[in-house]
Amino acid sequence: MLRSALLNVMIKAVRRAGRTLNRDFGEVEHLQVSLKGPANFVTAADRRAEEILREELIKARPGYGFLGEEGGERPGADKTHTWIVDPLDGTSNFLHGIPQFCISAALQRDGTIVAGVIYNPVTDELFTAERGKGAYLNDQRLRVAVRQRLADAIVSCALPHYGRGDLAIFLKEFGSVQEKVAGLRRFGSAALDLAWIAAGRLDGYWERDLSPWDIAAGILLVREAGGFVTDLDGKDAMLATGHILAGNEAIHRDLLRLLKPAAQG
Ligand code: IPD
Ligand code: CA
Ligand code: CA
Repeated sequence: MLRSALLNVMIKAVRRAGRTLNRDFGEVEHLQVSLKGPANFVTAADRRAEEILREELIKARPGYGFLGEEGGERPGADKTHTWIVDPLDGTSNFLHGIPQFCISAALQRDGTIVAGVIYNPVTDELFTAERGKGAYLNDQRLRVAVRQRLADAIVSCALPHYGRGDLAIFLKEFGSVQEKVAGLRRFGSAALDLAWIAAGRLDGYWERDLSPWDIAAGILLVREAGGFVTDLDGKDAMLATGHILAGNEAIHRDLLRLLKPAAQG
């Protein structure tokens, strides 16, 4: 499959970081039984992965800015381009030896996401998208699911962490969606949830209070797979608000109808 130079740069970076994460994931499984636990080890793994991604991406495009979850924002000479990177999305899963985590990398140009890569190093699933050029899982072109009825839909969501997020709003949202859909899931990696919407595995997904690095690549993947993504007001401010809703046109529309009033009271 012929890929652009830009995607090749991103793929090389996520694969290299993925090799380290995979090695560290193997270690984490041993650490589960030690008293100290794997938490510090995972923080170190996370930072190592971000360093590799930064090194590879900045080496290939020296002037671009870099926004990473671990190191924060590092502006570059080129003010029009920024890499947006989460070196490990699904940290709690990783920490517990659950193989549902990934690396997420996106390129933003003049405020628009133009390329996105999400990579699960355990399953070796590589999701890629470039604006206007479609979304792929490895070499296979992706389309969102065609299911039209909520009653047939599997929908992913988040459970607010203790002391984080608004539990009252979530419980209202949960109450109005749960009885209408075929099943609700909580997988624990926002980036993979979006990649799975693009792949047609999930029909819908919503979550609040995310950060740009959780969703930047996934937003492009869903759109390039023919799906719809907005914030929870139906607007395009996902990166600014951190709230997100995704699905095919019908499921997105029907979920928005349920979620909007739930949040309002
Ligand atoms: C988290 C995951 C999770 C979402 C959290 C995120 P992290 O990212 O995407 O699914 O519910 O809100 O913070 O901390 O594992 O990079
Ligand atoms: Ca994340
Ligand atoms: Ca992270």
